[in-house]
Amino acid sequence: MKLLIKQGRVVDPANGIDAVMDILVDNGKIAKVAKSISEKAEVVDARNLIVAPGLIDMHAHLREPGREDKETIATATRAAARGGFTTVLGMPNTNPVIDDQAAVEFVLSKARKEGVVNVYTTGAATKNQQGKELAEMWELRNAGAVAISDDGNTIPTASLMRKVLEYARMYRLPYLSHAEDPALSEGGAMHEGYVSTELGLQGRPSVAEDVIVAREILLAKYTQGRVHFCHGSTQGAVELVKQAKKAGISVTMETCPHYFSLTDEAVRGYNQNAKVSPPLRSKEHVEAIKKGLKDDVIDVIATDHAPHLLVEKYVEFDNAASGMVGLETAVPLVMNNLVHAGVLTISQAIAKMTINPARILGIPKGTLSVGADADITIIDPNREETIDPKQFESKGRNTPFAGMTLKGVPVMTIVAGKAVMRERRVVG
Ligand code: DOR
Ligand code: ZN
Repeated sequence: MKLLIKQGRVVDPANGIDAVMDILVDNGKIAKVAKSISEKAEVVDARNLIVAPGLIDMHAHLREPGREDKETIATATRAAARGGFTTVLGMPNTNPVIDDQAAVEFVLSKARKEGVVNVYTTGAATKNQQGKELAEMWELRNAGAVAISDDGNTIPTASLMRKVLEYARMYRLPYLSHAEDPALSEGGAMHEGYVSTELGLQGRPSVAEDVIVAREILLAKYTQGRVHFCHGSTQGAVELVKQAKKAGISVTMETCPHYFSLTDEAVRGYNQNAKVSPPLRSKEHVEAIKKGLKDDVIDVIATDHAPHLLVEKYVEFDNAASGMVGLETAVPLVMNNLVHAGVLTISQAIAKMTINPARILGIPKGTLSVGADADITIIDPNREETIDPKQFESKGRNTPFAGMTLKGVPVMTIVAGKAVMRERRVVG
């Protein structure tokens, strides 16, 4: 039952560690971290590899209950394991919506039975995510929800948003905001700009995101509630969050690999796999997102893993479903486009995928401290791989990254001391 991970580059930002070390795992927990450990155990040779706390994806669409044709908790968690994630947070826009105790309990019990990695869930902010009546947050929290969100939708009015934040604050739950003004982005299929004009597609302006980010910041200040911005994609959002943090307002921000890896140019050819909400933006926004990551205005990298059926994607661009799968491409995109590209240090990148989301959600994860759950991700920073959707564990194949060769892939995923992925294959 013992595992000895030898001579890896241990990167544990929560403890300020970035050094070559050994880690001993015993009985599902981290037992010892030291320069050199000798112990009778299964040995993992981690020379030239990065040994990180198990990665956390705080934004994944698991699709169960209701859309098991797109994804299940079993397949999503296998995808997570293959992608190097040991913990995922599911979003509540399922069918039925996760807006009551029964739905939260269903997800958590399914996850215990069929999940390959740790699963947490959000609860909806409003009943059926309709933006009309508040969901029973106390009930959601007591059933185990760790955050509140209407992701996919923006809360329609400032007055309802105020109430959401007042209740969420009482129950110490962060609110995860999908910030897109529905009236400003109505009818749009991609980022509003040069490319949308050329393609003759109606645009969703970046200001649609900025307007709601500004609203949530003002309401967070007024209510003392806690707002986390999902999938930030605009220069304006980064600037507003930067100012809000300076002013001591309780806000945090995430972005996703597609917002620092692609521009709206990816939509050319009416590529439905590049359709996502919020949309891929133009170059100046992508540069601002990278700068926001570098300056730690953006705290978290999450995937917004959004599996869809091919038949929902391969229709006219306007009618195609929004979203892309992300669990199995995130680490290579982070390594290739941020770490090897010199935007983030490895320690900064790992922090945004481990301890930062853990702190925002208040979950006991994201570190390699002695006594912590032995959730560990081992990454080969130099291994190259070509993204091949046929290899995905996810049911979703909707990715704009197919065929790209990227450097830096997860090679082992360990959950509670047990390997669930070895050498790119899910095991056990
Ligand atoms: O593109 C998206 N797809 N954005 C969201 O916010 C929701 C997601 C989904 O559920 O498919
Ligand atoms: Zn969203």
